[in-house]
Amino acid sequence: MTWSWRVERAYWAGEWPLLWRRGWWLLPFLLILTFFSAAPFVGHVINWTVVAAVAIIVLRRIRAARHFDSLLQRRWQEQTARWIVGSWPSLAVQLGLEVRDYSGRKIVTGAGNPSWDGSTCFLQVSMPPGLAREDLVAAAARIAQAFNAVRVTVEGEQISSLALRIEYVDALAQPFGFPLGGTWDGASVLMGISDGGAEWRLPLGPHTLVAGSSGSGKASLVWGLLLGLVQPIHSGLIEVWGIDRKGGMELAMGRDLLTRFASDAAHSVALLEDAVDQMQDRARKLAGITRQHTPTVDSPTVIVLIDELAALTAYETDREMLRRANAAIATLASQGRAVGFIVFACLQDPRKETLPARGLFTQTVGLRLRDRTETAMVLGDGAVAAGALCHEISASTPGVAYVLAENGTPPQRVRAAYAADEQIRDAALTYFAPNPRPVVLPVVEDESKPRRTRATRRTKTTEPQEES
Ligand SMILES: Nc1ncnc2c1ncn2[C@@H]1O[C@H](COP(=O)(O)OP(=O)(O)OP(=O)(O)O)[C@@H](O)[C@H]1O
Ligand SMILES: [Mg+2]
Repeated sequence: MTWSWRVERAYWAGEWPLLWRRGWWLLPFLLILTFFSAAPFVGHVINWTVVAAVAIIVLRRIRAARHFDSLLQRRWQEQTARWIVGSWPSLAVQLGLEVRDYSGRKIVTGAGNPSWDGSTCFLQVSMPPGLAREDLVAAAARIAQAFNAVRVTVEGEQISSLALRIEYVDALAQPFGFPLGGTWDGASVLMGISDGGAEWRLPLGPHTLVAGSSGSGKASLVWGLLLGLVQPIHSGLIEVWGIDRKGGMELAMGRDLLTRFASDAAHSVALLEDAVDQMQDRARKLAGITRQHTPTVDSPTVIVLIDELAALTAYETDREMLRRANAAIATLASQGRAVGFIVFACLQDPRKETLPARGLFTQTVGLRLRDRTETAMVLGDGAVAAGALCHEISASTPGVAYVLAENGTPPQRVRAAYAADEQIRDAALTYFAPNPRPVVLPVVEDESKPRRTRATRRTKTTEPQEES
């Protein structure tokens, strides 16, 4: 920490009370000695005591300069902890965190001794019978304001082991990136960090819906997924089939990581229907052999990655395309998981009208959203009540999100890593997909001929139109 008057003032603000607590007795001691100043040596004792006291103060200051950071932080933690513990009983009463027993006596929610992890304080609370975890969650925002904290969340599930996590610095406030080519564990993708500063890994398997307003950071989720999977993409264990209805603007930069790619409506629908056909073929082959597909180079996991999903499922003007796109997405999302076909889709508007198959996405990521209603649409009312407030995420922290895992654990606050253009280009150059294939449009049928099935149509590609 570099020296400044602010740092110096902070040091002495903590030092004087400490010196007073430890050395107050010196003053009466010196006062008493002055009454005997006529006696031999007493004058020297007074002088040497004063010199020793000043020397100790100076030496402590010199020694503190070597570990100013930790010293000031420790002092700040001690002061804040005293303040929290001292003001908790009255705050708990004011927030209604109390019950009355049968004799009318008040029992107030108690607090234990705070512990610290950097700028985050953990305060154990013991709630009397009759109160519930939800009462504490409902009061969290007001506790944060009372304690001057940036956020308060409730940790623990059992009423007997609840703790308040009081954050004084937002661990997710600063953007960050990850180096390329991290190891792939076969089950989840490293996407960013979570509230406590731990790694945030997104399980690969459940169909994932990412919802966020424009500029909320959906692209960092898309690239987080692709950059986290560069190794299996390059080895052929995973194929990513990308759809980007913004004319390919987003995915174009890392196009070589994609095995198949579509940007217009016709090719996007053809890609989706192809995925459905291959998924059903694979399901037939695996029937009676296994109930869970294991990826191999000959039978890779296929991730259907869709940016701006609503353009396919709601805003498309061709009603037939719209119907086919919705049908294909619903089929993939309802049958694909066990056979290794996974949908990862991003959209801005989470209303049911824009995505009829919303309920089939079992893993959801809510970035910044417009209002509470949208947050509840994406994560559910329970998650909102548990403190997942996507509509309160600041526009200045793109990539911050609440993740609702499919295993029913409470929503987790996370921030996705930022992927720089340079890194995406490097990834595409080094870890390109080994077996890229174009999306081929089925031949337009002659209306006079009898209708053929979808599968037959696709095999008749005498004059195909390609998007590669
Ligand atoms: N994880 C992140 N960390 C830091 N900055 C980010 C992060 N993600 C995105 N940003 C910044 O926010 C800007 C907008 O993000 P992004 O393009 O991902 O938004 P979006 O949700 O895809 O919006 P749209 O729906 O308009 O495409 C980016 O240009 C980038 O500068
Ligand atoms: Mg985008």
